[in-house]
Amino acid sequence: MSEQPILVTGATGKLGRLVVERLVALGRPVRVFTRRPEAAHTLFGQTVQVAAGDFGDRTSLESAVCGVGRLLLLSPISARLVTVQIAVADAAAAANVARIVKISGSDWTIEPPGNSISGAAHAAVERHLESLPMETVSLRPNAWMQVSLANTIRHAITSSQLFAANLDAGIGYIDARDIADVAVHQLLADRLRDRTLNLTGPDVVSFRQIASLIAAALKRPVAALEKPPQSVPEDGDFEHRAVAQFARLIAAGHAATTTDVVPTLLGRSPRTVTTFILEQVAPAAAVPEYQI
Ligand SMILES: NC(=O)c1ccc[n+]([C@@H]2O[C@H](COP(=O)([O-])OP(=O)(O)OC[C@H]3O[C@@H](n4cnc5c(N)ncnc54)[C@H](OP(=O)(O)O)[C@@H]3O)[C@@H](O)[C@H]2O)c1
Repeated sequence: MSEQPILVTGATGKLGRLVVERLVALGRPVRVFTRRPEAAHTLFGQTVQVAAGDFGDRTSLESAVCGVGRLLLLSPISARLVTVQIAVADAAAAANVARIVKISGSDWTIEPPGNSISGAAHAAVERHLESLPMETVSLRPNAWMQVSLANTIRHAITSSQLFAANLDAGIGYIDARDIADVAVHQLLADRLRDRTLNLTGPDVVSFRQIASLIAAALKRPVAALEKPPQSVPEDGDFEHRAVAQFARLIAAGHAATTTDVVPTLLGRSPRTVTTFILEQVAPAAAVPEYQI
Protein backbone atom coordinates (compact mmCIF):
# COMPACT_ATOMS: atom_id res chain seq x y z
CA MET A 1 0.00 0.00 0.00
CA SER A 2 1.36 3.48 -0.80
CA GLU A 3 2.18 5.85 2.05
CA GLN A 4 -0.71 8.02 3.22
CA PRO A 5 -0.26 11.75 2.57
CA ILE A 6 0.30 14.30 5.33
CA LEU A 7 -2.25 17.12 5.10
CA VAL A 8 -0.99 20.66 5.83
CA THR A 9 -3.48 23.48 6.44
CA GLY A 10 -2.20 27.05 6.23
CA ALA A 11 0.33 25.57 3.79
CA THR A 12 0.81 28.71 1.70
CA GLY A 13 1.46 30.90 4.77
CA LYS A 14 4.70 31.89 6.51
CA LEU A 15 5.16 28.72 8.57
CA GLY A 16 3.10 26.20 6.60
CA ARG A 17 5.23 26.56 3.49
CA LEU A 18 8.38 25.77 5.49
CA VAL A 19 6.76 22.58 6.78
CA VAL A 20 5.66 21.55 3.27
CA GLU A 21 9.12 22.20 1.80
CA ARG A 22 10.75 20.03 4.48
CA LEU A 23 8.32 17.13 4.05
CA VAL A 24 8.75 17.23 0.26
CA ALA A 25 12.54 17.30 0.64
CA LEU A 26 12.24 14.14 2.77
CA GLY A 27 10.24 12.48 0.00
CA ARG A 28 6.98 12.36 2.00
CA PRO A 29 3.67 12.59 0.17
CA VAL A 30 2.03 15.92 1.08
CA ARG A 31 -1.44 17.32 0.48
CA VAL A 32 -2.01 21.06 0.99
CA PHE A 33 -5.36 22.66 1.81
CA THR A 34 -5.79 26.08 0.23
CA ARG A 35 -8.30 28.52 -1.21
CA ARG A 36 -5.67 29.35 -3.85
CA PRO A 37 -4.60 26.23 -5.79
CA GLU A 38 -2.59 28.33 -8.29
CA ALA A 39 -0.58 29.87 -5.45
CA ALA A 40 0.13 26.38 -4.11
CA HIS A 41 1.28 25.20 -7.55
CA THR A 42 3.51 28.28 -7.88
CA LEU A 43 5.07 27.57 -4.48
CA PHE A 44 5.39 23.81 -4.64
CA GLY A 45 5.14 22.88 -8.34
CA GLN A 46 3.74 19.41 -8.89
CA THR A 47 5.45 18.01 -5.78
CA VAL A 48 2.27 18.12 -3.64
CA GLN A 49 -1.36 17.16 -3.94
CA VAL A 50 -3.56 20.26 -3.82
CA ALA A 51 -6.89 20.09 -2.01
CA ALA A 52 -8.79 23.23 -2.95
CA GLY A 53 -11.16 24.40 -0.24
CA ASP A 54 -12.09 26.84 2.48
CA PHE A 55 -12.20 26.28 6.25
CA GLY A 56 -15.85 27.36 6.14
CA ASP A 57 -16.76 24.72 3.54
CA ARG A 58 -17.29 21.40 5.31
CA THR A 59 -17.49 19.38 2.10
CA SER A 60 -14.06 20.60 1.00
CA LEU A 61 -12.63 19.72 4.44
CA GLU A 62 -14.10 16.20 4.33
CA SER A 63 -12.63 15.67 0.89
CA ALA A 64 -9.21 17.06 1.96
CA VAL A 65 -8.83 14.70 4.96
CA CYS A 66 -9.89 11.59 3.02
CA GLY A 67 -7.05 9.03 3.07
CA VAL A 68 -4.73 11.26 5.09
CA GLY A 69 -2.41 9.71 7.72
CA ARG A 70 -1.32 12.77 9.72
CA LEU A 71 -2.32 16.45 9.85
CA LEU A 72 -0.51 19.73 10.49
CA LEU A 73 -3.23 22.03 11.85
CA LEU A 74 -2.55 25.74 11.34
CA SER A 75 -4.89 28.66 10.74
CA PRO A 76 -4.45 32.41 11.09
CA ILE A 77 -5.40 34.40 14.20
CA SER A 78 -9.07 35.31 13.82
CA ALA A 79 -12.33 35.38 15.71
CA ARG A 80 -13.11 32.11 13.89
CA LEU A 81 -9.95 30.24 14.94
CA VAL A 82 -11.75 27.94 17.40
CA THR A 83 -14.60 27.11 15.00
CA VAL A 84 -12.22 26.58 12.09
CA GLN A 85 -9.70 24.41 13.89
CA ILE A 86 -12.33 22.26 15.62
CA ALA A 87 -14.04 21.71 12.24
CA VAL A 88 -10.74 20.57 10.69
CA ALA A 89 -9.92 18.34 13.68
CA ASP A 90 -13.38 16.74 13.73
CA ALA A 91 -13.24 16.07 10.00
CA ALA A 92 -9.83 14.46 10.53
CA ALA A 93 -11.11 12.32 13.42
CA ALA A 94 -14.09 11.16 11.33
CA ALA A 95 -11.66 10.16 8.55
CA ASN A 96 -9.51 8.16 11.05
CA VAL A 97 -6.49 10.44 10.67
CA ALA A 98 -3.99 9.03 13.18
CA ARG A 99 -2.25 12.19 14.43
CA ILE A 100 -2.69 15.96 14.60
CA VAL A 101 0.21 18.36 15.17
CA LYS A 102 -1.26 21.76 15.99
CA ILE A 103 0.50 25.11 15.75
CA SER A 104 -0.78 26.77 18.90
CA GLY A 105 -0.23 30.15 20.54
CA SER A 106 2.85 31.18 22.53
CA ASP A 107 2.80 29.60 25.99
CA TRP A 108 2.68 33.05 27.66
CA THR A 109 -0.56 33.86 25.81
CA ILE A 110 -2.14 30.67 27.18
CA GLU A 111 -0.72 30.44 30.73
CA PRO A 112 -1.95 31.94 32.95
CA PRO A 113 -5.39 32.21 31.34
CA GLY A 114 -7.18 35.55 31.02
CA ASN A 115 -4.46 37.66 29.37
CA SER A 116 -4.99 37.00 25.67
CA ILE A 117 -8.00 36.39 23.43
CA SER A 118 -5.69 34.60 21.00
CA GLY A 119 -4.26 32.39 23.75
CA ALA A 120 -7.78 31.58 24.99
CA ALA A 121 -8.78 30.52 21.47
CA HIS A 122 -5.75 28.26 21.07
CA ALA A 123 -6.35 26.81 24.57
CA ALA A 124 -9.93 25.92 23.63
CA VAL A 125 -8.68 24.06 20.55
CA GLU A 126 -5.99 22.28 22.59
CA ARG A 127 -8.65 21.04 25.04
CA HIS A 128 -10.78 19.80 22.16
CA LEU A 129 -7.85 17.94 20.62
CA GLU A 130 -7.24 16.15 23.93
CA SER A 131 -10.81 14.80 23.77
CA LEU A 132 -10.29 13.19 20.34
CA PRO A 133 -9.44 9.48 19.87
CA MET A 134 -6.11 10.11 18.15
CA GLU A 135 -2.56 11.22 18.93
CA THR A 136 -2.33 15.01 19.21
CA VAL A 137 0.38 17.47 20.15
CA SER A 138 0.17 21.26 20.38
CA LEU A 139 3.31 23.24 19.60
CA ARG A 140 3.43 26.55 21.51
CA PRO A 141 6.13 28.65 19.82
CA ASN A 142 7.39 31.86 21.41
CA ALA A 143 7.33 34.98 19.17
CA TRP A 144 8.69 34.22 15.68
CA MET A 145 11.77 36.05 14.41
CA GLN A 146 10.25 36.19 10.91
CA VAL A 147 7.27 38.29 12.10
CA SER A 148 7.83 40.94 14.79
CA LEU A 149 11.64 40.86 14.83
CA ALA A 150 11.80 41.09 11.02
CA ASN A 151 9.54 44.18 11.18
CA THR A 152 11.73 45.73 13.87
CA ILE A 153 14.86 45.13 11.77
CA ARG A 154 13.28 46.58 8.59
CA HIS A 155 12.25 49.70 10.52
CA ALA A 156 15.70 50.09 12.06
CA ILE A 157 17.37 49.75 8.64
CA THR A 158 15.32 52.60 7.16
CA SER A 159 15.05 54.90 10.20
CA SER A 160 18.09 53.97 12.36
CA GLN A 161 15.62 53.83 15.24
CA LEU A 162 14.06 51.05 17.29
CA PHE A 163 10.97 51.74 19.41
CA ALA A 164 9.69 49.58 22.27
CA ALA A 165 7.39 50.16 25.23
CA ASN A 166 10.01 48.61 27.52
CA LEU A 167 13.52 48.51 26.10
CA ASP A 168 14.63 46.08 28.79
CA ALA A 169 11.85 43.56 28.18
CA GLY A 170 13.31 40.37 26.75
CA ILE A 171 11.95 37.84 24.26
CA GLY A 172 12.99 34.24 23.72
CA TYR A 173 12.42 34.64 19.97
CA ILE A 174 12.29 31.48 17.88
CA ASP A 175 13.19 31.16 14.21
CA ALA A 176 10.22 29.84 12.18
CA ARG A 177 12.62 27.39 10.49
CA ASP A 178 13.12 25.73 13.89
CA ILE A 179 9.36 25.57 14.47
CA ALA A 180 9.01 23.90 11.07
CA ASP A 181 11.79 21.43 11.93
CA VAL A 182 10.03 20.50 15.19
CA ALA A 183 6.65 20.23 13.42
CA VAL A 184 8.16 17.82 10.88
CA HIS A 185 9.81 15.86 13.69
CA GLN A 186 6.47 15.49 15.46
CA LEU A 187 4.63 14.60 12.25
CA LEU A 188 7.10 11.82 11.45
CA ALA A 189 8.02 10.50 14.92
CA ASP A 190 7.03 6.89 15.63
CA ARG A 191 5.06 8.06 18.65
CA LEU A 192 4.34 11.26 20.54
CA ARG A 193 5.58 11.77 24.09
CA ASP A 194 3.96 15.10 24.95
CA ARG A 195 0.58 16.84 24.63
CA THR A 196 2.13 20.32 24.48
CA LEU A 197 5.62 21.53 23.61
CA ASN A 198 6.79 25.03 24.53
CA LEU A 199 9.25 26.09 21.80
CA THR A 200 11.73 28.97 22.16
CA GLY A 201 15.01 30.14 20.75
CA PRO A 202 18.26 29.69 22.71
CA ASP A 203 18.42 33.14 24.37
CA VAL A 204 16.33 35.91 25.85
CA VAL A 205 17.25 39.15 24.07
CA SER A 206 16.02 42.60 25.11
CA PHE A 207 15.00 45.35 22.68
CA ARG A 208 18.02 47.36 23.83
CA GLN A 209 20.29 44.42 22.94
CA ILE A 210 18.51 44.00 19.60
CA ALA A 211 19.22 47.66 18.75
CA SER A 212 22.92 47.06 19.51
CA LEU A 213 23.00 43.88 17.41
CA ILE A 214 21.37 45.65 14.44
CA ALA A 215 23.75 48.60 14.82
CA ALA A 216 26.74 46.24 14.83
CA ALA A 217 25.45 44.45 11.73
CA LEU A 218 24.76 47.74 9.93
CA LYS A 219 28.01 49.33 11.17
CA ARG A 220 26.11 52.51 12.09
CA PRO A 221 24.20 53.66 15.20
CA VAL A 222 20.61 52.58 15.88
CA ALA A 223 18.80 54.61 18.57
CA ALA A 224 16.78 52.56 21.09
CA LEU A 225 13.75 54.69 22.09
CA GLU A 226 10.87 54.09 24.48
CA LYS A 227 7.31 54.59 23.25
CA PRO A 228 4.06 54.63 25.27
CA PRO A 229 2.53 51.19 25.93
CA GLN A 230 0.11 50.10 23.21
CA SER A 231 -3.56 50.44 24.21
CA VAL A 232 -5.89 47.54 23.44
CA PRO A 233 -8.64 48.87 21.12
CA GLU A 234 -11.97 47.86 22.70
CA ASP A 235 -13.80 48.15 19.39
CA GLY A 236 -10.96 46.81 17.20
CA ASP A 237 -11.21 43.55 15.30
CA PHE A 238 -10.00 40.32 16.88
CA GLU A 239 -6.53 40.38 15.30
CA HIS A 240 -5.80 44.00 16.29
CA ARG A 241 -6.89 43.38 19.88
CA ALA A 242 -4.86 40.16 20.01
CA VAL A 243 -1.71 41.87 18.69
CA ALA A 244 -2.10 44.78 21.15
CA GLN A 245 -2.38 42.25 24.00
CA PHE A 246 0.81 40.50 22.78
CA ALA A 247 2.65 43.85 22.87
CA ARG A 248 1.53 44.51 26.45
CA LEU A 249 2.48 41.01 27.61
CA ILE A 250 5.89 41.29 25.95
CA ALA A 251 6.49 44.71 27.54
CA ALA A 252 5.66 43.17 30.92
CA GLY A 253 8.35 40.52 30.36
CA HIS A 254 6.09 37.47 29.80
CA ALA A 255 7.92 36.38 26.60
CA ALA A 256 11.32 36.33 28.33
CA THR A 257 11.53 32.56 28.52
CA THR A 258 13.62 29.78 27.04
CA THR A 259 13.16 26.02 27.07
CA ASP A 260 15.38 23.14 25.94
CA VAL A 261 12.66 21.53 23.80
CA VAL A 262 14.23 22.35 20.41
CA PRO A 263 17.72 20.98 21.22
CA THR A 264 16.24 17.96 23.01
CA LEU A 265 14.09 16.97 20.05
CA LEU A 266 16.37 17.99 17.19
CA GLY A 267 19.78 17.30 18.75
CA ARG A 268 21.11 20.72 17.82
CA SER A 269 20.85 24.30 19.09
CA PRO A 270 18.05 26.56 17.86
CA ARG A 271 18.97 29.41 15.49
CA THR A 272 19.96 32.65 17.25
CA VAL A 273 18.69 36.22 17.03
CA THR A 274 22.24 37.33 16.16
CA THR A 275 22.36 35.06 13.11
CA PHE A 276 18.87 36.12 12.03
CA ILE A 277 19.78 39.81 12.27
CA LEU A 278 22.96 39.25 10.23
CA GLU A 279 20.94 37.42 7.53
CA GLN A 280 18.36 40.22 7.36
CA VAL A 281 20.83 43.08 7.51
CA ALA A 282 23.45 41.77 5.07
CA PRO A 283 21.82 43.22 1.90
CA ALA A 284 21.12 46.61 3.57
CA ALA A 285 24.57 46.83 5.16
CA ALA A 286 26.11 46.92 1.68
CA VAL A 287 24.18 50.15 0.87
CA PRO A 288 25.67 53.48 2.10
CA GLU A 289 23.44 55.27 4.64
CA TYR A 290 22.78 58.28 2.36
CA GLN A 291 21.08 55.97 -0.17
CA ILE A 292 18.63 54.42 2.38
N1 LIG B 1 3.77 35.05 14.57
C1 LIG B 1 4.02 34.60 15.79
O1 LIG B 1 4.91 35.13 16.51
C2 LIG B 1 3.21 33.42 16.32
C3 LIG B 1 3.54 32.91 17.58
C4 LIG B 1 2.81 31.82 18.07
C5 LIG B 1 1.80 31.26 17.31
N2 LIG B 1 1.48 31.79 16.09
C6 LIG B 1 0.35 31.20 15.35
O2 LIG B 1 0.68 30.93 13.99
C7 LIG B 1 -0.52 30.95 13.22
C8 LIG B 1 -0.30 31.80 11.99
O3 LIG B 1 0.67 31.18 11.15
P1 LIG B 1 1.24 31.93 9.86
O4 LIG B 1 1.70 33.30 10.27
O5 LIG B 1 2.18 31.02 9.18
O6 LIG B 1 -0.08 32.11 9.01
P2 LIG B 1 -0.26 33.02 7.70
O7 LIG B 1 1.07 33.30 7.06
O8 LIG B 1 -1.15 34.16 8.05
O9 LIG B 1 -1.01 32.02 6.73
C9 LIG B 1 -2.37 31.85 6.73
C10 LIG B 1 -2.67 30.54 6.00
O10 LIG B 1 -4.02 30.18 6.30
C11 LIG B 1 -4.69 29.86 5.09
N3 LIG B 1 -6.09 30.27 5.21
C12 LIG B 1 -6.54 31.47 5.68
N4 LIG B 1 -7.90 31.49 5.63
C13 LIG B 1 -8.28 30.31 5.09
C14 LIG B 1 -9.55 29.74 4.79
N5 LIG B 1 -10.70 30.40 5.03
N6 LIG B 1 -9.58 28.49 4.28
C15 LIG B 1 -8.43 27.80 4.04
N7 LIG B 1 -7.19 28.29 4.31
C16 LIG B 1 -7.13 29.53 4.83
C17 LIG B 1 -3.99 30.62 3.99
O11 LIG B 1 -4.10 29.82 2.80
P3 LIG B 1 -4.68 30.36 1.40
O12 LIG B 1 -4.64 31.86 1.40
O13 LIG B 1 -3.74 29.74 0.39
O14 LIG B 1 -6.06 29.79 1.32
C18 LIG B 1 -2.54 30.64 4.49
O15 LIG B 1 -1.85 29.50 4.03
C19 LIG B 1 -1.62 31.51 14.11
O16 LIG B 1 -2.46 30.46 14.56
C20 LIG B 1 -0.84 32.13 15.26
O17 LIG B 1 -1.58 32.16 16.48
C21 LIG B 1 2.17 32.85 15.58
